[in-house]
Amino acid sequence: MSRKQLSGFTSRAIHHGYDPAENMGALTPPMHMASTFAFESAEQGGAIFAGEQAGYFYSRISNPTLDLLEQRIATLEGAEAGVATASGMGAITAVMWTLLAAGDEIVTDRTLYGCTFAFFRHGLAKFGIKVTHVDLTDPPALEAAMSDRVKLVYFETPANPNMRLVDIAAISTVAHTHGAQVVVDNTYATPALTRPIELGADVVVHSATKYLGGHGDLVGGLVAGSAETMQRVRLEGLKDMTGAVMSPFTATLIMRGLKTLALRMERHSTTAADVARWLEAQPQVAAVHYPGLESFAQHELASRQMALPGGMIAFDLAGGYEQGIRFMNRLGMIMRAVSLGDAETLIQHPASMTHSTYTPEERAAHGIGEGLLRLSVGLEDSDDILADLAQALAASDLAIAA
Ligand SMILES: Cc1ncc(COP(=O)(O)O)c(C=O)c1O
Repeated sequence: MSRKQLSGFTSRAIHHGYDPAENMGALTPPMHMASTFAFESAEQGGAIFAGEQAGYFYSRISNPTLDLLEQRIATLEGAEAGVATASGMGAITAVMWTLLAAGDEIVTDRTLYGCTFAFFRHGLAKFGIKVTHVDLTDPPALEAAMSDRVKLVYFETPANPNMRLVDIAAISTVAHTHGAQVVVDNTYATPALTRPIELGADVVVHSATKYLGGHGDLVGGLVAGSAETMQRVRLEGLKDMTGAVMSPFTATLIMRGLKTLALRMERHSTTAADVARWLEAQPQVAAVHYPGLESFAQHELASRQMALPGGMIAFDLAGGYEQGIRFMNRLGMIMRAVSLGDAETLIQHPASMTHSTYTPEERAAHGIGEGLLRLSVGLEDSDDILADLAQALAASDLAIAA
């Protein structure tokens, strides 16, 4: 069977787009650490530059190693093409600078990752693009916010840090009725759990730093969408406006990560479900936000839109901020660190860390509690994660939920 015909997600993550026979039998793809590529003749160079002949010339535009990773994210997301970038913020900014112009408007959900929020609020505004935050958990609210000037609708699902879900199909229908494109940050779910393009979205962006890389040893970003849009993102947003190009070494590490993505997401989800259920039963815990819990406000949407509930949990202690900090400082195996999607279980406090780019008033308006804690459940044994959480809760003088 040809590799091109592989239908399974993991089989494609392992084999798609690569034939060892074309690479001296090397089982894993070679890493092309080249900034520039020699032409056979001056005429050939001119033809490649003019786009009349396929070929590589400079790695800020394209590179064979990045090319393979781009094909892999495209097949996993059900998209025509992909673009690799130096970071998740590189992916988001390259897409925005390509698809928007001064005078345009963008509608986004209330909750966004802190740096995306800062880019939208301060970066886009500086260049004459209006950003409106709308509660996208309510598709009729989007209908009311649409106008001819709105070119993009942008959201995360689940959202960082509070786990709000957005119905991708319903929002895409409303946006498309008004001629706007839909861009989804799929970092939390990954294509192993949710494929936004198959549900109607136009473009997917990723912080590949997280689950796609999966091992906490790289920073990278990926974009997926139609071949036409990806060519524009490559030549406008990436080549000329951000220059945020991924290293071939990073691309190689992400391709290694992708091979185990589905397996890791299964394990993250099983363990996170154990942890979420356990947290929910603790008297010191006031609220747990996890798509796999029946108590989760959008549990029905989660079951419809996510193959599994994923590895991210948000929760509030009854004692709020002060006790959250005390609790975090007592943890042993669980690391106090930002980022997410690694093998290690990580905990952080969004209000003072990843979402300190919001003012306290903005956090209140955007649904990010001051005492909220964010847990990225890793790949360790569930019993060890629970034991660490239990000792930190028990050893402390924490308030009990009413
Ligand atoms: C949901 C989400 N999107 C985008 C980013 C930005 O990605 P990067 O840190 O790779 O630039 C992050 C980073 O934490 C994130 O959590």
